[in-house]
Amino acid sequence: MKMGYSSFVAIALLMSVVVVCNGGKTSTYVRNLIEKPVDMPLDSDAFAIPPGYNAPQQVHITQGDLVGQAMIISWVTVDEPGSNQVIYWSDSSLQNFTAEGEVFTYTYYNYTSGFIHHTTITNLEFDTTYYYEVGIGNTTRQFWFITPPEVGLDVPYTFGIIGDLGQTFDSNTTLTHYQNSNGTALLYVGDLSYADDYPYHDNVRWDTWGRFTERSAAYQPWIWTAGNHEIDFDLQIGETQPFKPFSTRYHTPYEASQSTEPFYYSIKRGPAHVIVLATYSAFGKAKYVNLHDT
Ligand SMILES: *[C@@H]1O[C@H](CO)[C@@H](O)[C@H](O)[C@H]1NC(C)=O
Ligand SMILES: *[C@@H]1O[C@H](CO)[C@@H](O)[C@H](O)[C@H]1NC(C)=O
Ligand SMILES: *[C@@H]1O[C@H](CO)[C@@H](O)[C@H](O)[C@H]1NC(C)=O
Ligand SMILES: *[C@@H]1O[C@H](CO)[C@@H](O)[C@H](O)[C@H]1NC(C)=O
Ligand SMILES: *[C@@H]1O[C@H](CO)[C@@H](O)[C@H](O)[C@H]1NC(C)=O
Repeated sequence: MKMGYSSFVAIALLMSVVVVCNGGKTSTYVRNLIEKPVDMPLDSDAFAIPPGYNAPQQVHITQGDLVGQAMIISWVTVDEPGSNQVIYWSDSSLQNFTAEGEVFTYTYYNYTSGFIHHTTITNLEFDTTYYYEVGIGNTTRQFWFITPPEVGLDVPYTFGIIGDLGQTFDSNTTLTHYQNSNGTALLYVGDLSYADDYPYHDNVRWDTWGRFTERSAAYQPWIWTAGNHEIDFDLQIGETQPFKPFSTRYHTPYEASQSTEPFYYSIKRGPAHVIVLATYSAFGKAKYVNLHDT
């Protein structure tokens, strides 16, 4: 919320987590609030472009179903569309699995995005380490993540919460601080790149943000919701489709909870039932009843 008034986003942790949750005080870290935060320059190491022809960049994952047995794998290629395939396997699997996804592009004023891939991998086992590879056919890159325990078990599970991250030097410190915690999934409460602070909402700053956050977001799910800095509606430059950059780059598993709105959905993860509701989203009683029943 570094830019004054910001979006208000409600995330409710329901069910047993309310009862058993005892996070305690996990840190004495306080961000520097005295100097005005400065964005990291475009050539900063935090934004380094991975080497190799058409190498996947901005890799990030988010839960792909209601209970944690699927993952949406997303990445960007810039030289050519390349493959939408994800190859994945677990510690114990004797074979590799392949999933196919889709590729998207968008334009924003005079910016043209890279090739934005989203591929959902399914039928994952709980509590298991999975490795995955993207960039098939060109430069490949490998990452890993750990699936959550089965829903409903009374097991400890640690969520992180970050919002308003931006891409300042302080953002970098904040992310490092989070990486040194034991968070295994991140609830992202809106306001991602702050690209809209730049003239013409310079969408290059969406790409730098994607590369910056990859070092965490490729290895554990970041559960997304939209804030006011994602609106990117600007009549003066003819951009009239709200949330275009965010929606194209960050998918959510809203259909798995029978929602019809990408910014209103729920996921279950270990002991928690997380309800994501952005104030910009339509939501209805009928859908609420639906969620309540599951
Ligand atoms: C699975 O894919 C990885 C990465 O391409 C490869 O190193 C490994 O040998 C493959 N395993 C099997 C069983 O094919
Ligand atoms: C987009 O337009 C702005 C303003 O004219 C200019 O500064 C910028 O370099 C342009 N960017 C591209 C990618 O053409
Ligand atoms: C990059 O990968 C795609 C998809 O596998 C393939 O069709 C294309 O020929 C590759 N490009 C090069 C230059 O190898
Ligand atoms: C960002 O943080 C990483 C990890 O601590 C560090 O290696 C890198 O040098 C930092 N970059 C900047 C521009 O602060
Ligand atoms: C993370 O977990 C380890 C092992 O339980 C513990 O030693 C460490 O203090 C924890 N770190 C934080 C920041 O909570």
